[in-house]
Amino acid sequence: MNILICGGGNAAHALAGLLSTQEDLRVRVYLSFEDEARQWKEGLAEQKSLHVHLPQGELVGRPVQVSSQAAEIVPGADLVLLALPAFAHEVVLRQMTPHLQPAAWVGALPARGCFDLCALQTLGEKAPAVNIFGLQTLPWACRIERYGRSVRVLGTKAKVDLASWPAELAPQIAATLSPLLGVNLQPVSSLLSLTLAGTGQLIHPGIMYGLFHNWDGQPYAQAPLFYQGIDPYTAGILQSMSDEVQELRHNLEARFSWLDLTAVRNLYDWLRFSYTSDIADDTTLQSAFTSNRSYAGLQAPMRSVDGGLVPDFHARYISEDVPYALIATRGIAELAGVPTPQIDQVIRWAQGCLGQEFLVSGVLRGQDLGASRAPQRYGYQSINSLVESTRMPV
Ligand code: NAI
Repeated sequence: MNILICGGGNAAHALAGLLSTQEDLRVRVYLSFEDEARQWKEGLAEQKSLHVHLPQGELVGRPVQVSSQAAEIVPGADLVLLALPAFAHEVVLRQMTPHLQPAAWVGALPARGCFDLCALQTLGEKAPAVNIFGLQTLPWACRIERYGRSVRVLGTKAKVDLASWPAELAPQIAATLSPLLGVNLQPVSSLLSLTLAGTGQLIHPGIMYGLFHNWDGQPYAQAPLFYQGIDPYTAGILQSMSDEVQELRHNLEARFSWLDLTAVRNLYDWLRFSYTSDIADDTTLQSAFTSNRSYAGLQAPMRSVDGGLVPDFHARYISEDVPYALIATRGIAELAGVPTPQIDQVIRWAQGCLGQEFLVSGVLRGQDLGASRAPQRYGYQSINSLVESTRMPV
């Protein structure tokens, strides 16, 4: 199988290293940035391989080709993996589209919100010939050790949800990819379900809001704990955001009897499902976060200034999770006519932090909507057309 990995960050290093150790896989890496491609080539020329450090030992792989030229590296790819932040999906897909072969599988790890709408619009005339899929999250926590040379995998998730367009392909894609990635991929009903099921869109902006919405502008001596810093107030914010997504889920299930949104769990159930053995005290949502070993010691994103540390409002917890995930869910709620007052409160604060505008007077019509994944941005004006699009060819 010919595999093309797109991107040059942590996730791309892990994928390129892990996949290129396997026989029968020809792994190529597409980097849009010339400088990154040069560094990968230098690294591979120097040490002839890419090292992956796993908790259980080292793997050594070697991609067969690295290039910043789409015309050179995209043709022939059977499986395309976008190992990119969501804001780069569209631009990279646009660069690749003319060179994609029919029947290619094109997937994003992670998908974030409304990846199907982004991909279908960007692929344009090629869309009907290409199969699209997304993972709910990246299967690994990973960090580059030496650029183009080595990466450390800190942990691997036990199960990750996968959805596709056309929706019925998800079991086949999950069965093919699970052994390649070494992860149990669970097919779910649709990319709409994956959009609403994303918990990062609630947890990350919700905790940032809870920690910093009343910040007085004075630098901190040390970074606050992120998950363990959740107090009853922030837990209440997270609960309300999750309740609003559940309200939306039940509204859609009542309207569309065929629609399966069982993967859209409430936050408390999701925590217990995902971290069963890591939670010491699951009596409340707050305690399920603060007593979760996987979250212990993790700090809020901060940047250094004279006199200490200040919150980094451009960290991905806001700059990716709000425009490319929470706004997508908010857009679906708006089409469905389901009010989301708590989510709106967080979005209003976050858009101020980002210096962007999505919500105006309670409606998604801000000037930066084009830099989001709201379905309105892709021309959807009714919940019927959006939901039907998950099961209809374009
Ligand atoms: P990263 O920041 O290491 O990778 C960024 C890479 O994306 C750049 O090196 C570049 O190759 C590419 N890129 C960025 N902007 C681009 C543009 N405008 N045009 C073309 N290419 C561009 O990110 P990382 O860590 O690899 O994460 C990828 C995704 O996985 C993100 O959505 C992240 O939130 C998610 N994720 C990452 C985890 C991790 O442990 N690294 C864990 C869970 C999720």
